[in-house]
Amino acid sequence: MINRQNCPIILKDITSLDLSLAPWREDKEKIALVPTMGSLHEGHLSLIRLAKEHAHHVVVSIFVNPRQFGPSEDFATYPRDEQADIEKVAQAGGDVAYIPEVEVMYPPGYQTNISLPHSSQCLDGLSRPGFFDGIATVVAKLLLQVRPDIAVFGEKDFQQLLIIRQMVRDLHLPVDIVGAPIVREEDGFAMSSRNQYLSAEERAIAGQLNQVMRQSLVALQKGTAIKTVLQTGKEALKKAGLTNIDYFELRSVPDLRPLTTGKLPPEAAETARLFAAVMLGKTRLIDNMKVA
Ligand code: PAJ
Repeated sequence: MINRQNCPIILKDITSLDLSLAPWREDKEKIALVPTMGSLHEGHLSLIRLAKEHAHHVVVSIFVNPRQFGPSEDFATYPRDEQADIEKVAQAGGDVAYIPEVEVMYPPGYQTNISLPHSSQCLDGLSRPGFFDGIATVVAKLLLQVRPDIAVFGEKDFQQLLIIRQMVRDLHLPVDIVGAPIVREEDGFAMSSRNQYLSAEERAIAGQLNQVMRQSLVALQKGTAIKTVLQTGKEALKKAGLTNIDYFELRSVPDLRPLTTGKLPPEAAETARLFAAVMLGKTRLIDNMKVA
């Protein structure tokens, strides 16, 4: 609990979290939460920096949440590096690293689940059953444990951001949800903790995902029919070696209604977003982009 220079306060349970945050709450100082699963990269750090602009104190949670992994997914092998993460939290200006064990979040006998069935029925929710239940449940718990004034989520996981906003509205949770732009590598590839699974050869192919998406946006802006754009995009992905496409879809935001026919009218471009997910070897890549 000692806050040495360049070291955030490291907390592992709810009692010490309460004790540490109490003086800030009493002084009515704003607290921000940045929930993460660790293996922090520049994308996460941009969220911490943004949180710091909105609040006096930033709590970064690091918890690989078992409830959002399917039985055949990578919970056991998900990259974990607590020491490096703690240093990065400090560098980005985080004040607290909250790192609970699974037993703290889900003690024996735990049973409550939060489900948003309507928002979870498309895109990642369709391909990963139970995924968004696991996310909504853990984020609700983190919000109730930390009771932040604001919480920051990346647009990289756009459907997740929409689901959290909906849950916060539905449950009257007293927190402002702030969305943060996607941080990309030099070639435009969206950063992700899972990118470290990629071999050098796969990484070169993976960089094509955002390129194809950008080309598709240009075609949409030029007035090419949506169906043609999506078909051409999928063919380009396959040609680039991204053969295992989960989805490549245009949807309106925030309702995620599919946009499939005709041309995109200019007034709809503002709310239209292109969403893509592909499997490359054992790595799932996702990305999304606003049309205008
Ligand atoms: P994780 O994948 O670690 O991501 C934590 C936060 O960082 C999310 O809000 C995510 O959208 C954001 N993020 C990841 N990559 C980003 C990038 N390249 N640019 C901007 N933001 C990025 O998302 C989760 O963890 C979990 O589902 C969680 C919300 C913590 C619940 O377990």
